[in-house]
Order: sequence, then C-alpha cells, then structure tokens
Amino acid sequence: MAPKLAALAVLASLLGAVSCESPLSIYAIYGYDPPNPNQPYPLPPVLPPKNPNPELKVGYYVQKNCPQAEDIVKRAVKEATAGEKAGLIRLHFHDCFVEGCDGSVLLEKVANMPDPEKLGLPNLSLRGFNIIDQAKATLEKECPETVSCADILAFAARDASKSLSYGAIDYQVPAGRFDGNVSLASETFGKNLPPPFGSIEQITGMFAAKGLNQTDMVVLSGAHSIGRSACGSFANSFSNRLLPDNSSTAMNRTLADQLSKTCTTDSVNVPQDYQTPYTLDHQYYKNVLSHNVLFNSDAVLESSQTKVLVDSYARDPPSFLGIFPIGRNAWYDAFGQAMVKMGKWDVKINLDQGEIRKVCGYVNKKP
Ligand code: HEM
Repeated sequence: MAPKLAALAVLASLLGAVSCESPLSIYAIYGYDPPNPNQPYPLPPVLPPKNPNPELKVGYYVQKNCPQAEDIVKRAVKEATAGEKAGLIRLHFHDCFVEGCDGSVLLEKVANMPDPEKLGLPNLSLRGFNIIDQAKATLEKECPETVSCADILAFAARDASKSLSYGAIDYQVPAGRFDGNVSLASETFGKNLPPPFGSIEQITGMFAAKGLNQTDMVVLSGAHSIGRSACGSFANSFSNRLLPDNSSTAMNRTLADQLSKTCTTDSVNVPQDYQTPYTLDHQYYKNVLSHNVLFNSDAVLESSQTKVLVDSYARDPPSFLGIFPIGRNAWYDAFGQAMVKMGKWDVKINLDQGEIRKVCGYVNKKP
C-alpha cells in the first residue's frame, strides 16, 4: 500500500475507534494535551527569519539549464484529482510553517530516527505526495539533481490553485529553495501548525511567528473553500462544533444538524465548502458570514479585528445585467501574493543550508 494510503488507513482506524462518545480523543491517543479553550494555546516565539530577504527568482530554473522544470510540474498537477490538488495547497502551507519552506514535510520515517513531520497529528491527512514524487521522478531524468523538492511543492501549489480557481488565481513563483534535512513530528501539533479550535489571537499569533500578518492570515484561510475535513477535526470530545452553542462563532444550526447525521465517526470526511466544494473561490468568506464553516479558526474571522476584510472578500463584483461581472473580487490576487509571501518563509538558499534531494521522501545518502 502506498505510504499515503497507509497513513490514512492508520488515521481512519485510530479515529474510527474514538467516536464523539468515547472518553479518549484523537489528542489523547497521540499523547497530546487536550485543548482547553480557557487556557491560552502556546504560541511559537516570533523570531527573525534565518534568511530575511531570500534571493529567490522567478525563472530560476531557466538559468539553471532546466527551462522545462515548471512545465513538468504543471503536467503532473494536471493529472491530479481535485482532492489531490487541494492537498497540494495544504502541503505547501504545512511545509512552510514547520522548518520553513524546505520540503521537510515530504520526508519519510527512517528506522532509529524520530518520527518525521509527516507523522505529526495534523499531517496524517495530508495528500498529494504522489504528485510531487511523480514530478520529481521526471525531473531527475531530465535535469538530475537540479530542482529542489521544496520548489516543486511551491510550483505544484500554484498550479493547483490556478486549476481549482479556473484560472482566476495565477501568480509567479520565485524559486531557488534548497531542501532541508530536519523533519520532526514533534514540531507540528502544539508548536507550529495552528489548531482548528484556535481563537483569533492564537491563529494571528501563529501566523505572525511565520512573518505573516493578520491580512495574510485572512486571505490564506480562503483555501478552506476547497477540500475536505475529517469530522474529528471539528467535532471531538474536547471541542465539538456540532453541539448547540450560543456563542457568536457557533456553527449554523442547519449545517450542524446535517453534519451530526453524517459524522457517524471522527474519520468520516466532509467537504469544507458545501456551496462550491471543488472551486477555489471567495465563497469561503460568504460561508464565514453565514456561519457555514467547519472550524473555530474559520468562524473567528468574523471577529471585529478581521470583519471588514471578510465583508469585502465576501462581496461579488458588480455585474452588467446581473450576468457579466465588472471588475473582480480582490481576494484572488491577494491569495497569490500571500502564497508568494508564505513561500519565502525561512527558506534554505545554498548548499551550506540544504541540498537538492534526489528523491523527495529521503535526504541524500552521504558519500
Ligand atoms: C488558520 C489556520 C488553519 C487551520 C487551523 C487549518 C486547519 C485545517 C484542518 C483541521 C483541515 C482538515 C484536516 C482533516 O481533517 O483532514 C484543513 C484542511 C485544509 N486546509 Fe487548512 N488550516 C488553516 C490554514 C490553512 C491555510 C493557510 C491553507 C493554505 C493556504 C490551508 C489549506 C487547507 C486545505 C486546501 C485543506 C483541505 C485539504 C484536503 O482536502 O486534503 N489551510 N485545514
């Protein structure tokens, strides 16, 4: 069984064993402290980036005698399913937030080494690894040891965004990242990756720790207009968004009732956006305003700090005769710009800091 499927099967069996009624939660199973909404979630320290202005370049691989690099990635992404494309966008985000954008999320478990990021709790449901491996295999034939896995991931996230938005999101990716060789599951949940039960202060703080401001955070959260979530990510024994709740961030009752029926176990997957589940669009912001979002971290974007932005991204552009849009919603360009900004976080830019892996799942063997 492919490693991705094996990881999902393990997750499904573990989560399946802990339905909402069970005293054990997914957090306890993995040895994590359960979230306590009354206690502040530990925020990662806001440290200066290792490379504050990394010299990444658009067209980098043209200069490196591999002008076909981006086309090869594009072709691999074209073959991906809509779900894998959603997975590729999330993969890039999870890569950048842990050890910087250095392909560390792609590394496999190696005997006698600590578990890699891939085995961290939030990463067990990642998908799209096969698309990266496929692109890398072709690239190694055509331009051996030239194109980093970190760059392949950044290109693939861009191509997936373009495809899922039907061309509305289209940006250029500065490249020249090197691959890292540190990858620790212990750096994921509870450290660097924001939790779905996070408050506005928590998620803002966790993005700030990666050089991203609150606007970037609101813009990038729009990626939750595609893909899926396991029920256990928003309804578990410690934090259950399906229960009746009078707070201002409560889930829309109709959606909560519908999901209560669908979510028979924590491992059942549901779409994040019921309106346009396969299109990366500004529907997400309408869903935030109508409380039709799955996570607390989505719902809190309606807070006073970010509401103006959410309101503006939720608005459809004016149209001629109610059919032809005039102008376009600003979110689509903002999303591309925020992805480029995120993609520069803590990158490795030379052989002293990283390497060009030959296979994305493993660091190169030392001679
Ligand atoms: C505010 C912080 C965020 C939190 C707490 C969060 C949390 C989550 C969770 C819990 C899931 C569902 C996982 C599962 O149960 O399978 C998910 C899915 C997803 N997230 Fe986020 N996320 C955040 C920000 C982002 C950002 C910045 C991006 C990309 C730019 C992103 C892209 C996605 C995508 C595309 C999916 C669906 C993946 C798939 O279908 O395979 N998320 N997120």
